[in-house]
Amino acid sequence: MPRTKILFQCQSCGYSSPKWLGKCPDCSEWNSFVEEERVSKLKTRKAAEPVSLADITHTEGDRYSTDIHELDRTLGGGVVMGSVVLIGGDPGIGKSTIILQSLKGLSRLGHVLYVSGEESPEQVKLRAERLHIRSDNIILLPETSLEGIISVTQKVKPRVIVVDSIQTIFSVDLPSAPGSVGQIRECATKLMFLAKKQNIPLFIIGHVTKDGAIAGPKVLEHIVDTVLYFEGDKGSPFRILRAVKNRFGSANEIGVFEMAESGLKEVDNPSELFLSEKPDNVPGSIVTVSLEGTRPLLVEIQALVTASSFGVPRRTAIGVDYNRINLLVAVLEKRVGMHLGSMDIYVNVVGGLRIDEPAIDMGIVAAIASSFKNQSINREFFTFGEVGLSGELRAISQAGVRIREAAKLGFTRGIVPVNNMQTFDNYNIEIIGVKSVEEAIEILFF
Ligand code: TYD
Ligand code: MG
Repeated sequence: MPRTKILFQCQSCGYSSPKWLGKCPDCSEWNSFVEEERVSKLKTRKAAEPVSLADITHTEGDRYSTDIHELDRTLGGGVVMGSVVLIGGDPGIGKSTIILQSLKGLSRLGHVLYVSGEESPEQVKLRAERLHIRSDNIILLPETSLEGIISVTQKVKPRVIVVDSIQTIFSVDLPSAPGSVGQIRECATKLMFLAKKQNIPLFIIGHVTKDGAIAGPKVLEHIVDTVLYFEGDKGSPFRILRAVKNRFGSANEIGVFEMAESGLKEVDNPSELFLSEKPDNVPGSIVTVSLEGTRPLLVEIQALVTASSFGVPRRTAIGVDYNRINLLVAVLEKRVGMHLGSMDIYVNVVGGLRIDEPAIDMGIVAAIASSFKNQSINREFFTFGEVGLSGELRAISQAGVRIREAAKLGFTRGIVPVNNMQTFDNYNIEIIGVKSVEEAIEILFF
């Protein structure tokens, strides 16, 4: 008989404790502890044999295309057999839609088992009609019990399994409710073993609440091979699928989609899209180049600098790190001599994108300076580079890739760190290398 143990677990972060607590010591959430029963799995097992690295024969896992190029890209070039992929995001952002669309390609492999714990087969059918998906190989299973799902997979022998969503699945072995940390972890682990044993891909869909801290998908991140998160504003039609973790490809790779009448449409050239509404001759706007995974993306940075009417000036950052803005404002103040201390400053990355790269520092600085001086920046310019505390412009990675993307979209003058200077014979582009922010600003506002 396996030993059972009662423990209490925080539903917000997964912290466990032998007794009930009012406040979680880990994530400070109040009243988040729920009693969970854990079956102790401490059984004696034969230890694994050590192997020399040289003796291991290399097998590059087979990859299959989902027929959605942007999804394949975020997966690292297609789905790997036996891999477990978690797709997370806010409710209603498009997780069920993208997975259903990908089944068009994946159902060519053989039977696909679509476990739907949230929608009835009729609802899924209705959606599939809208997305023009017809395949005899897609089998719907309106089931929420883990044991039920496992017994059906033994009968159907699917080549792909989709679980939508993991929050609705429960195992009878555990007394806690579906969606609790214990249930999610237990169900995902059992499903993962199933996928690995049969060498088939498993897609797990998980909801993430607004603050992004919900235990559900977070506790799964280390169990699964690939984690894809949907980003985007529900008000805007654009959706970004970002690989946060990928054992079979590069992380941070993104896919860009547009939600349309008949499902998610791929956006082939996101740079064009993000720049499509860039105004001309308006102060406070410049184009910079960010690298998302392996893909260069041109984005417009906007800034608005106004005299503050309160004692403490406001600083607002959308799409970039707030502390980074404060740092860059301090550099402008001290090294360039701009008096921004009594100014409200708003910075925004257009298109709902979130960028964590210091390469866009120079873009932020240029946008703030442009708004402060009330002088627009010529539309042929783009800029990138990391700003250091002494006001120096530091080199960044993969400058060539970024410059080429800017040249492709018709930009003709680039202000870049002097150590990133390159010449391009085949493009009509002038690259200006500068050492400091001050120098860059002199060129931009001569
Ligand atoms: P859905 O995939 O159900 O979200 P999730 O599974 O992440 O909760 O997406 C639902 C939203 O997408 C809903 O608001 C309607 C919209 N939508 C479209 O605009 N066009 C479509 O073709 C489909 C299927 C959905
Ligand atoms: Mg859904």
